[in-house]
Amino acid sequence: MSDELSVKRHKSDPDESIEEIMPEIRPPLTRTHKIVRDESGKHNLLLILTGSIAVMKAPELISELYEKIGRDRILIKVVTTENAMKLCHIQKLEFDEIVYEDRDEWSMWRERGDKVLHIELRKWADSALIAPLDANTMAKIANGLCDNLVTSIIRAWDLSKPCYFAPAMNTHMWENPLTMQHRTVLKSQLKFKEICPIQKELICGDVGTGAMASIGTIVSLVAALVRDQQAVRIQCG
Ligand SMILES: Cc1cc2nc3c(=O)[nH]c(=O)nc-3n(C[C@H](O)[C@H](O)[C@H](O)COP(=O)(O)O)c2cc1C
Repeated sequence: MSDELSVKRHKSDPDESIEEIMPEIRPPLTRTHKIVRDESGKHNLLLILTGSIAVMKAPELISELYEKIGRDRILIKVVTTENAMKLCHIQKLEFDEIVYEDRDEWSMWRERGDKVLHIELRKWADSALIAPLDANTMAKIANGLCDNLVTSIIRAWDLSKPCYFAPAMNTHMWENPLTMQHRTVLKSQLKFKEICPIQKELICGDVGTGAMASIGTIVSLVAALVRDQQAVRIQCG
């Protein structure tokens, strides 16, 4: 799937405007849009995408999550940053679910009493998976910034719920001492669980650690979480 996508991008005319590359394929959501929790026992996973090139793997990640865990056991909602959208035409991909973007946060709220999207999404979710997590959003989370939909969800996150993050960045970014500092905040203070990046030749040609963990690794961690949570629910009735 990711190969298909990269082919699409390489074929595009270098002089195309950003509007031509990323046509708006659905209008922004309005205040009538409802986010309803499924109470049938399915696990509600919030998949958060940020602006790393590894976002191209999102379709594969989603289909593997559904395949390995089963549509009867997991529901996925997708949230993206604006820069992730630029790297991958997420809205054009064949997701069953809406992909929530920054513009929806502001189009869904008109007046007091209207639902606030980032709060509705954090309430809906049983867990979050930030994959890929780029250096910029990692730094923002570590410093408490909340200037877009993704960082607002995470700033408002219920810290008793699991949140996994899979960093993906250039080796030099990964090795920068600031990255270590930010990872430490996420792991030690927020108790988020890191899915360590791997070593390989990155898309920029550099070789070293920084590539997002394999889809298989990410999916098996989420599958184990879903299995454990559902087992606890069965035991507790
Ligand atoms: C083609 C391309 C690939 C990029 N890949 C990465 C990456 O893998 N990891 C990363 O941390 N930043 C990467 N960046 C830089 C981020 O997109 C940039 O820091 C951006 O501000 C991130 O915004 P966001 O965190 O709001 O999504 C890339 C940028 C471009 C243009």
